[in-house]
This record gives sequence, structure tokens and C-alpha cells, in this order.
Amino acid sequence: MSIGDRKVAVRGVRAIPDPPGIRQARTLPASWYSDPTFFEHERQRVFRQNWVAAGVTDELPAPGAWSALTVGGVPILLVRDRDGRLRGFLNVCRHRAAPLCDDEGSGSLIRCPYHSWLYRLDGSLARASGVGEPEGFDLDDYSLKPVGVAMWRRTVFVHVGDPTAALDLGPLADAVRDCPFDDMDMVLSERHERHFNWKVLLENYSENYHTPFIHPEIDTSATEDYPMVSDGAVLYAWDRLNQPGQAADEVIRSTMLPGEPGWEQVFAASTQRPYDVGSYLTIWPNVMLNLFPDAALVMWIEPTSANTTVVQRRLYVVPGRSATSLQGILDAHRLVHEQDVSICEAVQRSHDAGLDADGVLATVEERGVYFVHQHLRAALVDSL
Ligand code: FES
Ligand SMILES: [Fe+2]
Repeated sequence: MSIGDRKVAVRGVRAIPDPPGIRQARTLPASWYSDPTFFEHERQRVFRQNWVAAGVTDELPAPGAWSALTVGGVPILLVRDRDGRLRGFLNVCRHRAAPLCDDEGSGSLIRCPYHSWLYRLDGSLARASGVGEPEGFDLDDYSLKPVGVAMWRRTVFVHVGDPTAALDLGPLADAVRDCPFDDMDMVLSERHERHFNWKVLLENYSENYHTPFIHPEIDTSATEDYPMVSDGAVLYAWDRLNQPGQAADEVIRSTMLPGEPGWEQVFAASTQRPYDVGSYLTIWPNVMLNLFPDAALVMWIEPTSANTTVVQRRLYVVPGRSATSLQGILDAHRLVHEQDVSICEAVQRSHDAGLDADGVLATVEERGVYFVHQHLRAALVDSL
């Protein structure tokens, strides 16, 4: 069966209807991936008005410590007080806007390096030595500005637009609750700035159309199809195995959708290879999460310009792996990522040259790309 002939409605497998509008959809113009003005507007609408992944819980500051990061281009300080409570603030002094910290620090007070104003770990201004008697000045009015911070599984989200918004990833995030992700050991922590617009990687991650060609070493022969469903911010794709004579858990998966009773067997399936029996979640706007019964890969992205993006990757495996098997997993994930980066950087060169593809989307295989485009258009709806 050629890729072009793939169908979702295979015998015995539940069909998932086309998302409305995908047959008429076209790919986005090159300028949306390369124009600095468009990028700034998009970053404002997408990354400063949403919950955005900003880290993993494994790397949060210890009690009594803080660390600086950037979310949607906005400098942020994550602070953990002595009781372990995590807070987020804009990383800007309320005096004359010096950044409070460039990397990380610890102590009972955060000192601004410029004129030495002192802030408590709850963000309140403790002292402003030497300030004299400015009219109407009250320490209580000059606390650091809070941002929203929330955690889901081992992922940390920040909302720079609304500190009181609740993070709600919906039912498809609940569908992975039985994945033993929280018990796994982190075995890789990587950060790289890459030469592509952030959407190029997110789109690439959200489809399996390219897999046989860009990742020929991944054996997809046992996968009849690669269905995907979406709800809210989450797109959920999975390897659906439906050949006769397979294990019960795999048969169940051929008729089930994520979150239905029995779905948890996905995470108890026996696996022989990296990239076997996977659940793949795209969480708008910047998370890519691979969950397997014995490993997990978290990736999140921070756009740094129209055509550059910081890509963060963390790999986890169940404890007790042999060194050889662990090296196999690390090598497999590295190879796949390098292959994806290479094709994404090549695509970006076309965007940078202003070459519009004006293409169509594969109506089954590129539902995830359509998901990305729909969220983007919704974010920009009244400004296009
Ligand atoms: S800018 Fe921070 S104390 Fe002046
Ligand atoms: Fe890929």
C-alpha cells in the first residue's frame, strides 16, 4: 500500500472523519514563516496570551532559589520560596527596569543589581534603600508583577498574559494519566537554537506523512495507520496496530479512541523497539510529547526570531535499563531528531527565499498540520 493510498477506515478500525475544512485547506504563505513583523505580531498573540511550556519539573529551582527564563520573548523569573511554593514574576525591577537575574540565584531576598532594591521571594518589595521620599511612594505598590505558573505531569507552563488563568489541557491530556512518565528517570537534557520558524517543527512533529522518507529506519510496517484526534489545545496521535493475531492490548487499540475505558493498556503494552506503541501529543502552541510504555520524550520550543527557534528536549526512561538498551534509545531519538532538524532547516530556506508552496494538505496524514494552522488562525483571527 503506498502512502498516498493510506486510509483511516481500515476494516475493524474505527474511522475518524475528516476535520471540516481540511479538503479546502492550503499551506501557509512563506511570509508567515519569515517576516519579522508578522513574527512579532504572532508571538504577541500566540505566546503571550496562552499557557506556554517553559520547562520541566526536574529542573525547577530548589526551595529558596530562583531561575531566569524567557517565555514568548518575555524575561521571567521562577521563584521557589522556603516552603516550596513556586511563583513566577516578570524579571524586571520595579524601579528602572533592570533585569533582576540573568541565570539563577538563591537566598532570602532578591537583590536588583542596579540600585539594590530588595524583593522577598513572594515578590513583595522589602527595601528601597536610598530612594528618599518620592511623593506617593509605598513599598506595597511596587511588588514584582506576577505571571501564571502551572504544572502538568513533569511539564511547567507559564502564562505571561494572565496570572490568574487556569491551565486546562482537557480530556486528551487525561487520556495519558496511566503512562508511568512520573516514575521515569531523565537521561537527556538538551537545548539548541535551530534555523527554522517555530511552526516548521511543530507542523513536522504533528504528521507522520514524512516518516517513511525522512526516518527510513523506523519500521512502520506493523502500523496500519497513524490516527489523530484533537480537543482544545491537544492533538493526540498514536501508532494503531491492527494486524490479526496480535496481543490483546493492540487489538483493543484498533477500535478505541484515547481516553475510552481500557485505553490505559496502551501504556502497559510490551515494546521491542524505540518508537514502538507510541502516543504523540502536540500541545498548542509549543509542546511535543512522545509517550511510550518505557520511555518519554518532552520537547518544547521558544521562538527567538522569525527564522530561529530554541528547541528543548528531555528524554526519560523507566528505571533499570541496561546501559546498552539505554544507549540504543538515546541513539534512536538523536537520529530521528537530527533528521527532522535537517528537513525543517531545508524547508525554512525556502520560506526565507519567499517561495510560496501554496500546497494542499493530505486529508488524513496532515490533520495535525491543519490543527496547527487552525489554532494559529484562531489566535490571529481579528488581525489578519
Ligand atoms: S533598576 Fe532595580 S534598583 Fe534600580
Ligand atoms: Fe520526523
